Amino acid sequence: MNPRRLLSTRIRKSLKTCGIEAPPLVRTASKPEFGDYQADGIMAAAKSLGKNPRALAEQVRKACLLQDRQCDGVDVIESVDVAGPGFLNVRLNDEFLARHLEVDAPLVEPTVRPQTVVVDYSSPNLAKEMHVGHLRSTIIGDAAARILESLGHRVIRQNHVGDWGTQFGMLLAHLSETGGDSRVLADLEEFYRDAKSRFDSDPGFADASRAMVVSLQSGDETARARWRQFIEVSLDHCQALYERLGTSLARADVMAESAYNDGLPDVISALDGKGLLTESEGAQCVFLPELGSELPVIVRKSDGAFLYATTDLAAIRHRAGRLAADRVLYFTDSRQSLHFRQVFAVAAAAGFKPPGTTLEHMPFGNMLGTDRRPFRTREGGVVKLTDLLNEAEARAFEEVSSRSPGMGEAERRAVARAVGTGAVKYADLSKNRTSDYVFDWNRMLAFDGNTAPYLQYAYARIRSLFRRGAVEPESLEGVAHPEAPAERALAVALVRFEEVLDQVAAEGMPHLLCGYLHDLATKFTGFYEQCPILGADTGERENRLRFAQRTARTLKTGLELLGIETVDRM
Ligand code: ARG
Repeated sequence: MNPRRLLSTRIRKSLKTCGIEAPPLVRTASKPEFGDYQADGIMAAAKSLGKNPRALAEQVRKACLLQDRQCDGVDVIESVDVAGPGFLNVRLNDEFLARHLEVDAPLVEPTVRPQTVVVDYSSPNLAKEMHVGHLRSTIIGDAAARILESLGHRVIRQNHVGDWGTQFGMLLAHLSETGGDSRVLADLEEFYRDAKSRFDSDPGFADASRAMVVSLQSGDETARARWRQFIEVSLDHCQALYERLGTSLARADVMAESAYNDGLPDVISALDGKGLLTESEGAQCVFLPELGSELPVIVRKSDGAFLYATTDLAAIRHRAGRLAADRVLYFTDSRQSLHFRQVFAVAAAAGFKPPGTTLEHMPFGNMLGTDRRPFRTREGGVVKLTDLLNEAEARAFEEVSSRSPGMGEAERRAVARAVGTGAVKYADLSKNRTSDYVFDWNRMLAFDGNTAPYLQYAYARIRSLFRRGAVEPESLEGVAHPEAPAERALAVALVRFEEVLDQVAAEGMPHLLCGYLHDLATKFTGFYEQCPILGADTGERENRLRFAQRTARTLKTGLELLGIETVDRM
């Protein structure tokens, strides 16, 4: 149930009856005294119609109350007020709130218009070990994929790993000299460094590397076998990390760059067929006016090699065609924005996707250290994910041990795992993805503020409340009815869950869900302080326990959708 959408539909119809065609801008009220939702857009319409904005708003208000069809047998709107120069403040009906706060009803209704959504995320380069740069894509993309799925969309995960290109020549040449012993690949970072330094200093090795690329690309069996061996080891490294991080990526989601190789010549001929190719200095290029005429997209180099962009064009054909995607989402850092703008424009011009299929780049900023410079180890190297997560757990273990010294060690370790990994993921997810974000151990592990431990603790506190009251959550039935102001504030927050998920699904912005969960936990604290639960009379106690249970379920489900675990005790 999405209250904002319900209200938008009603207000849109009311605007129409008053001669206004523009969609209303409905958002949650910025202050409780403004009601639950605010609508604007009337002032602008009044101006263009030459009417008095407040008088027009009054007219819309009346239409709105007439329009308010019941939803599941109750009115949605309690009251609408005209405020300021022509805003509408809307208050939801308490009966309507209660109707949607059934203690054990599903939190989300599957959409009536399910879409097929391809989510391209993580997508590391297999030549090296995955590092923090791919952490953001993995975490944010995974949350987006889960949220889309929870709303009933068909999600196809695509891990577009880089497994092709000239750097593999160097790695395979190096691997050949070790006799193909896989043990040297235990540390990929080191292996890459060694290969690179030999490539730079030893001309004989550099020649062997280039020869290896040629053998590999011409399908030489020995080169291919060695390459497969390398890729397998590197993918195992990735999969181990996905499991450690609790991301939902499986080996079957890998659709590597090399998988598109055979389709690349066909991409070129299709572009040619559309008259889109221009030869420039021996290279095949596409010039599109919307990209600026001085900025060609090169699709084939003069030596015949294909590029990253060519592979992405083949991938678009596959995703829009074979996979029948309605939307394709790409989670990469913002440095690739130009690349995607180019590729999307070429794909559209070439008819590689139907007009209804949207291609959406979801860029994100860099991860910075507390010194506001790119996040690095103290020695200046790239931070490995494994080391990062080990440190997170160790720090969380210390914190948990000092807070709950009475808890057994095994349980403290389990809690530390959930809190440590959760903190790292949440710190990333809770920031608007388009900005750079500062990785700060102290802030992310704090038990207050917009952090994973705060939300995990809020959840555990509700579980402990049920334990103390000896109440089985499953034994509760019926609806949570808002009576006290703190209950009402909590009720309005609770019914917004699906609305927030819809927004995250549309915009690929998981920080909106984080902000929501943090607000919910805060509202719960207010309710908990003002409305005694276990000490209340039977009827009131039941009602408040329903609120507590709905809150716990929403927190747990919300965190799960972000890929973050909860624990029953902390
Ligand atoms: N492998 C690329 C990198 O590490 C990211 C790939 C993103 N997806 C895509 N379809 N281009 O930068």
